Amino acid sequence: MKTTILSPEQISQAAQWLAEGKLVAFPTETVYGLGADATNPQAAQSVYEAKGRPSDNPLIVHVDSPQMVWQYADVADKSLALKLMDNFWPGPLTIILPVKAGTLSKTVTGGLDTVAFRMPDNKATLNLISTLGRPLVGPSANTSGKPSPTLAQHVYHDLQGKISGILDDGPTRVGLESTVLDLTSSIPTILRPGAVSQQQLQEVIGTVQSDHHKVQPGEIPKAPGMKYKHYAPQAQVVIVDTVEDFEPALSWVKQQNQPFAVMAEQSVLDQIDLTAARATFSLGSNLDSASHLLFAALRKFDLDPQIKYILAQGFTASGLGAAYMNRLNKSAGNKHFKSQEA
Ligand code: TXA
Ligand code: MG
Repeated sequence: MKTTILSPEQISQAAQWLAEGKLVAFPTETVYGLGADATNPQAAQSVYEAKGRPSDNPLIVHVDSPQMVWQYADVADKSLALKLMDNFWPGPLTIILPVKAGTLSKTVTGGLDTVAFRMPDNKATLNLISTLGRPLVGPSANTSGKPSPTLAQHVYHDLQGKISGILDDGPTRVGLESTVLDLTSSIPTILRPGAVSQQQLQEVIGTVQSDHHKVQPGEIPKAPGMKYKHYAPQAQVVIVDTVEDFEPALSWVKQQNQPFAVMAEQSVLDQIDLTAARATFSLGSNLDSASHLLFAALRKFDLDPQIKYILAQGFTASGLGAAYMNRLNKSAGNKHFKSQEA
């Protein structure tokens, strides 16, 4: 299959392929999604196949409006959901609601009686959904286990030959996947941290709890995606939690006598001696740019099989930092540099 890169003007071509049950990757403000018509079970099934994704892991249903949600969700009291949609949509918040019986296939829900909805903040994609007239399923458009794609080229690298098209709208703004909020539990629960923070949610709907702990073997996770290995490059990622730790971390990694790479803010790269590093990647000037560039950095280093260690800058895990550290911890298997290792 030939994979065609489409410009944001080529919406009607993309919509036509989707209507035929084909797969088209689409841009959002978080990461690129792998789109299929959510009302077509065969199309949704082929999403799992293209990604190599376990089929018990349910898909997010992308809508062009809150109204589109109520065709597929069965919610007696809509007030909480409406407040959230009003404040955060379009934007990086996914809301889990009870599914309306008989509307969406098991392929989409992973056999659960709930379904995840999101209205992405990208004009081309909202236009695409409206043109199709139906919602799109959209897991991140990467091979399962790889970092999510923040550029059309990342999608092409992973999925060329497996999907019909990629709607290319340049780099994604946020760079980390949406906050997933379960509204079906008695207390609204964050299952995956993202750019919409716990505090921002609490300001709108009151108490919100967080449940993105590491799933133990044998445990049934609330968000099935949490049990799978994620974002892990072939090299060992080692998180350096403070800027002061970079010097001892560098001494430690040099003692390993293996090629290593460093990813950190430009101001950090400017302060340390990188002559021994095989590769470096600047995460820009702050947490926003670091989140925007995290997956691109991991992907870039993964192209060089010689690299055995990646020293990666950590940030305080609050607000957007909670989302950044959640992804970085997964890519590192929770390995942090402690100065005593030096
Ligand atoms: O930012 C995003 O959310 C991106 C863009 C493309 O929209 N999409 C994305 O989808 O990250 P995906 O499939 O890679 O991640 C969806 C997460 C998974 O961890 C999945 O297990 C969880 O949401 N999820 C989906 N439906 C669920 C449900 N009904 N109950 C609990 N968790 C659910
Ligand atoms: Mg994903």
